[in-house]
Parts: sequence; C-alpha cells; structure tokens
Amino acid sequence: MKQPVRIAVTGAAGNISYSLLFKIAAGEMLGADQPVILQLVEIPQAMDKLRGVAMELEDCAFPLVHGISLHDNPFDGFRGIHYAMLVGARPRSKGMERADLLEANAVIFAEQGKALNEVANRDVKALVVGNPANTNCLILSRNAPNLDPSQFCAMTRLDHNRAKGILGNKLGVNPSDLDGVCVWGNHSPTMYPDVHHATVLGEESAISQIDEKWYKEDYTPRIQKRGAEIIEWRGLSSAASAAQAALDHMHDWALGSNGEVVSMGIISDGSYGVAKGIYYSFPCVCEFGSYQIIQGLEINEYGQSMMKKTEEELLSEKAAVDHLLPAETAESREN
Ligand code: NAI
Repeated sequence: MKQPVRIAVTGAAGNISYSLLFKIAAGEMLGADQPVILQLVEIPQAMDKLRGVAMELEDCAFPLVHGISLHDNPFDGFRGIHYAMLVGARPRSKGMERADLLEANAVIFAEQGKALNEVANRDVKALVVGNPANTNCLILSRNAPNLDPSQFCAMTRLDHNRAKGILGNKLGVNPSDLDGVCVWGNHSPTMYPDVHHATVLGEESAISQIDEKWYKEDYTPRIQKRGAEIIEWRGLSSAASAAQAALDHMHDWALGSNGEVVSMGIISDGSYGVAKGIYYSFPCVCEFGSYQIIQGLEINEYGQSMMKKTEEELLSEKAAVDHLLPAETAESREN
C-alpha cells in the first residue's frame, strides 16, 4: 500500500468542491491505489457548511481517505501538502470593478503563496482554479520564492475540454479521438482556442474538415464565452465540469498525459514570443510529474494576433497588481 499524500482544497464548502472532493476521495485524481489525506480550507464564516461537507465525505466510507481535517486558514491547512487545489476566491460583487476584483484576490493569493512557501511539502504542485486564475497564480507564485514557478499552474483545462467536446460534437467523433486541440493565453474571453494542429484518430488532420467561418465566428466565441452561456441556461456557474477539469489537470500533471496535448496555464519562458513571467496557457505534454511546452507549432497570422491579444490582457492584469507583488521575486531569480 502506498503512503497517503496530503491534498489541500480551498473553497472546500463551495460548488466546485462539492463535486471535486468526492472524485478525489474516490481515487479519480491520483489513482485507485493512492490513499489521500484531505485538508479542507475555508473562510471562518463557511466552517459550519464545511463541517456538513466533511460529514458527507465520511458517510461515503471511501477506502482511500485516510484522514480529513478542516482549517480556517492556509498556514494550518497547507501543512505538509503534496497537492493544492486552490478553488476558493473572492467573487465579483455588485459594483466591483475589475481592478477591485484583482486586488481582492491578490490579497488572498498572496497569503496562500506565503503559506505554501512556509509549510507545504517542497515538491508541492499547486493548481489555481479561483478567478482571475492566471493572475492569481502569478501572485501565488511570486509570494512563494522558495518554490519553483513551475510548481504552480492556472487552470485552463476546462476551456481545453470544452474546445475538444464541442469540436468532437461538430465533427461527429468522440472527443477522445481528437488530439492537438489547445487553448492559448488567459482563462477569460480573450483566450485563443486553436484547432489548427488537431488530429482525428491520430493521423487525419481535423482542420481540413472545419469550416473557417464556423471556426472564427461560431466556435471561437462559443468557447471564449462558454462560462457565461452555462450561467445563462443553468442559472449557476460551471461546477461539475470545472471539478472534472481540475481533476484532469492534476491527474495528467502528476501521472502523465500519455502523449496527449493538454492546455495548462504555466509560467511563460518566452516560448512562441510570449512575454516571460506571466502565467499563460500553452499546449503541453506531461510525463514523470512535470510538463513540457510543445515547441515548433506553426502559428498563422490570425493565431498570432489572437495570442497577442490575450497576452496583452494578462500583461495589463499584471500591471494592475504589480504594486502588490514582492520586490524579490521568483521571476527576477529566473531572469
Ligand atoms: P463558490 O462561491 O460556490 O465557492 C467558493 C468558496 O470559496 C466559498 O465557499 C467561499 O467561502 C470560499 N472562499 C472564498 N475565499 C476563500 C479563501 N480566502 N480561502 C478559502 N476559501 C475561500 O464558487 P465556485 O462555483 O466553487 O467557484 C470557485 C471559483 O472557481 C470562482 O472564482 C470561479 O470563478 C472559479 N472558476 C474557475 C474556472 C476555471 O476554469 N479556471 C471554472 C469555473 C469557476
């Protein structure tokens, strides 16, 4: 029997976690032979609700769950963790400007970065789900100078899964028969879903079957605004699909993507001319617990302009929180 690994989940009493926790506990993230200890983190006002969630986890009698602890602060909740699923974030309230939202979350993720830096296992892998995910991830990483920036990711896997699901449906193939689809940039309506390198069943190029007008005028805005479309129909934001994406992301990062292309919001190393030091979604493959950006993809003029636009948005988000970033940073160490 393997030793249990410690997994922290923030926002553990929220909607996404209500799907995510039960999937992790069932072994869907790290495998059916990997015991887990769940360290659930919430804000003090949500601790009662969290207790109820923990009771339900207990009532499932999951054999892989070797412990559950509840915490109202990250310095306790992140102690010794191997994986951090950072779902909790401050939602946009009425009248709140984008800059206010960025700042409110900067405070949360700065504290969580410091906590990871101090108390997490040195090999921790942290995934930021809470929005604005890419910039939250930047703040998190910059506040954890003793951890490597590659130990942090922003979740763009939901956009990736949406891009595959909707394209598969259009082409009449199972999404698992598609590979090479990816999403570049920010988890926001500027993201660029790219199907130019997609293959069907490993060889046939999918792009020859895709109508350009449909791709640019229907598919792309649909992926970019899918979150809003879900809210419009369901009256609530994506929860089960977000939980599945978080699970897929961490599963592949930890155990490998089997050669498949996956989209991950990772620290830019300047690949494809993207500014260094921002968390930008790139096409990656995962193996042996780490990821590699797929290099050498040909990007046409349309793609380049789409990639630039989403990069510019991330740079403007970074500028809005720059005053909150510590001076001595992981980025400056890297350069
Ligand atoms: P929710 O509002 O149901 O739950 C959020 C939970 O986080 C609440 O229980 C709240 O008390 C908790 N929380 C807030 N601040 C916290 C802190 N500092 N520490 C610990 N917990 C904290 O929201 P839901 O639906 O679960 O979504 C969570 C986040 O995920 C949102 O920011 C949402 O925008 C984002 N999201 C991201 C997606 C992505 O693809 N990256 C997709 C869907 C949602």
